[in-house]
Amino acid sequence: AQLAEHASAWTGRADGLPAAIHACTRCALDRCATQAVPGEGPLDARLMIVGEQPGDMEDLQGRPFVGPAGQVFDRVAEEVGLERRMIYVTNAVKHFKFTARGKRRLHQRPNMSEVRHCKWWLDAERRLIRPKLILAMGATAALALTGTGGDMLSRRGRLECTPDGMPVLLTLHPSYLLRVPDAAHRTAAMAHFRADLAQARDLVR
Ligand code: URA
Repeated sequence: AQLAEHASAWTGRADGLPAAIHACTRCALDRCATQAVPGEGPLDARLMIVGEQPGDMEDLQGRPFVGPAGQVFDRVAEEVGLERRMIYVTNAVKHFKFTARGKRRLHQRPNMSEVRHCKWWLDAERRLIRPKLILAMGATAALALTGTGGDMLSRRGRLECTPDGMPVLLTLHPSYLLRVPDAAHRTAAMAHFRADLAQARDLVR
């Protein structure tokens, strides 16, 4: 019944997908966020990148990965020769979840139920784009795509699969790279992230 409600808001056409995502009220996060942030990029993209959920700036601008994590991603992607305009970029959850602390809006990780409700849209995006490879950045994306979250430090760099057989390369989330307190670990994590993006580049060639 839940899926039917989603489906009734969307004809299945690519051009109606952003509006359908904007209208989604299946979980409570639409009441928290300013707006939904649908994926963006070419419909014939060979590579699809999935993050966790929009952050503060994405929520305000309505576009994925335009804040600090997006800047890390853009910089490393450019270093390895991946062009963002060729990539379909989206998130496991389409609404920003936060708690207000004074004027600041502190990111809160989406829970299992929110990830499950929003997976309907992620699956719809996957079916429309049919990418050659999906790069899952962070544990929430890994959970939504493979059914298993967590343990990203040991799973990163590995190829796994969606239940319907699409290849998923796992990597760390770029905002994790911004939070690693210790400089040596941060450098190592950044090198892993760069190696994973280079592997994604090679796999979609
Ligand atoms: N973090 C994400 O996971 N996605 C965004 O779009 C921005 C930050």
